[in-house]
Amino acid sequence: MKINTAEFVVSNSDAKKCPNEPIPEYAFIGRSNVGKSSLINMLTNQKNLAKTSSRPGKTQLINHFKINSNWYLVDLPGYGYAKVSKKTKSTFQKFITDYFEKRQQLVSAFVLVDIRHEAQKIDLEFMQYLGQSEVPFSIIFTKADKVGKQKVNSLVADYRKKMLADNWEEMPPYFVTSSEDKIGRDEVLEYIDEINKE
Ligand code: GTP
Ligand code: MG
Repeated sequence: MKINTAEFVVSNSDAKKCPNEPIPEYAFIGRSNVGKSSLINMLTNQKNLAKTSSRPGKTQLINHFKINSNWYLVDLPGYGYAKVSKKTKSTFQKFITDYFEKRQQLVSAFVLVDIRHEAQKIDLEFMQYLGQSEVPFSIIFTKADKVGKQKVNSLVADYRKKMLADNWEEMPPYFVTSSEDKIGRDEVLEYIDEINKE
C-alpha cells in the first residue's frame, strides 16, 4: 500500500472524545520505549509525525493520525513504565482500557514487543486482556536491527512457545520490524490494506 498522506489529527485523554467518523483504525500498544511512535514514523515515512524519545514515557495521550484520508493509525502511551506516579498510571490505565473496550472503530491492535527480550509477563497479561475483551491483535517484534538476522527465527520460535504455554492455541499474526533499518514496513502495510479491503 502506498501512503499518500499522513496527518496528525488530535490527542485525547478520553476515549469518548476520539474522532467519531466511521472509518477503520489500528492501535499500537506495548511497553514504554518499545518503539510504538518510531514505528508510526517509519510506516508513514515521516521523521517526526509521532513524538519519540530515548526516555520511556514520551507518549501520554491517545493520538490519532489519519492515513490516506480514510483510516487511522493510533499511537498510545506505553504500559509498564515505573517512573510515572500512581495517579498518572491509573489515569492512563483508565483511558487505555476505555479505548480498547469501547472504541467501535478499532479494527485491530498491534502489540509491540522488543525482539531482544523473552516474552514478558506484562505483555502476556496484556494479550490475555485483549483476548478477553475480544480485541483482535497481532504482534510486532521491534528493534530487529539489534539482533543478528540469523537469531530472529529462534527468538520468534521462543516467543511462540511462551504463548502456547500461556494457553494460546496458536501464535497470532506477527511481524518482524526495525524502524531504524525500515524492516517490515511493506508487510505491516499490506496486512492493514487487506483488512481495509474486507
Ligand atoms: P513511549 O511513548 O514512551 O511509550 O515509547 P515508544 O514505544 O513510543 O518508543 P519510541 O518510539 O519513542 O522509541 C523509544 C526509543 O527506542 C527511541 O530512542 C528510539 O529511537 C528507539 N527505537 C525505536 N525503534 C527502534 C528500532 O527499530 N531500532 C532501534 N535501534 N531503536 C529503536
Ligand atoms: Mg510513544
